[in-house]
Amino acid sequence: MIAMSRSSEDWDRNDDKHSDSISSSTGLLNERTSESRVASLRKYIGLRLLFEGFLVFSLFITLVSIAHNPKAAKASSYGPTLPRKDVIFGNTAGLGPDLDYEDPEMLRNATRMREIHRHWHSLFPSGRGYVAVSENEEFDVLHPPFKMDNVFEKGDLYEGHIMAVYHQLHCLSIIMTAMGTSREEWAMLPIYKLEHRTHCVEYLRQSILCSADTTLEGETGAWATSTGWGQTHSCVDFDALTEFANERAIWNLTERLLPDSFDPLKVHGTNETH
Ligand SMILES: *[C@@H]1O[C@H](CO)[C@@H](O)[C@H](O)[C@H]1NC(C)=O
Ligand SMILES: *[C@@H]1O[C@H](CO)[C@@H](O)[C@H](O)[C@H]1NC(C)=O
Repeated sequence: MIAMSRSSEDWDRNDDKHSDSISSSTGLLNERTSESRVASLRKYIGLRLLFEGFLVFSLFITLVSIAHNPKAAKASSYGPTLPRKDVIFGNTAGLGPDLDYEDPEMLRNATRMREIHRHWHSLFPSGRGYVAVSENEEFDVLHPPFKMDNVFEKGDLYEGHIMAVYHQLHCLSIIMTAMGTSREEWAMLPIYKLEHRTHCVEYLRQSILCSADTTLEGETGAWATSTGWGQTHSCVDFDALTEFANERAIWNLTERLLPDSFDPLKVHGTNETH
């Protein structure tokens, strides 16, 4: 801003001088020449300062407009920006195939819990959310891919990035399967299985705060007990999400589960992994 006001002052001053030099054009030749040289130099400096001031001003305006227009800034710099659509939360929310993802019965019936847990698998793309990215994406890839060896066979090697939404879903699904677990059962488990579950709670806490869906929930008439169901949210289009993750999948896990050695999330006593 200082450069701006200085340049316009100089412009005004120079303009006056310029008029002076034209009006005194009847003087001596030498005097006239040096005077007009000084005048044109001043005019040049004035124009340059004006131009520079204009550049500073343009930069300022651009920065202000980026700050005030969230669409101009990248919505999600560290992963793909996917289309959004309105979704009404509730038991029939269009977030996945038409299956049951919860049932109070599962808390006292392990068979029902396994059934529900299997339904959650249908929410994952075939690579379970592990995707391959290149160096020339339209988003920033902050870290090298995660390397995994001896996954299915001795000597195999896979690498990829897992999309956070699938890590979050995975964590929530294993927390769900632990809901029927007693303290006596927990006492039988090795500490790394407990650590992974506490990691999941903390991971989801931070993820919820990071995503911060600011939808203002009100009375929808859908459920008298609580807000939530019947409320429209602006959600990432789940089909577009699945499509992206399928296109980039580093493997196809449709027919197989990740082994325990890779992922210590085996549901206690069920032979189910994720
Ligand atoms: C537990 O759930 C399974 C599967 O839904 C069901 O077939 C079974 O009858 C349930 N067991 C009890 C004791 O309710
Ligand atoms: C993964 O494999 C299954 C069959 O095992 C197939 O139906 C499915 O289309 C495959 N998924 C992708 C994304 O290729």
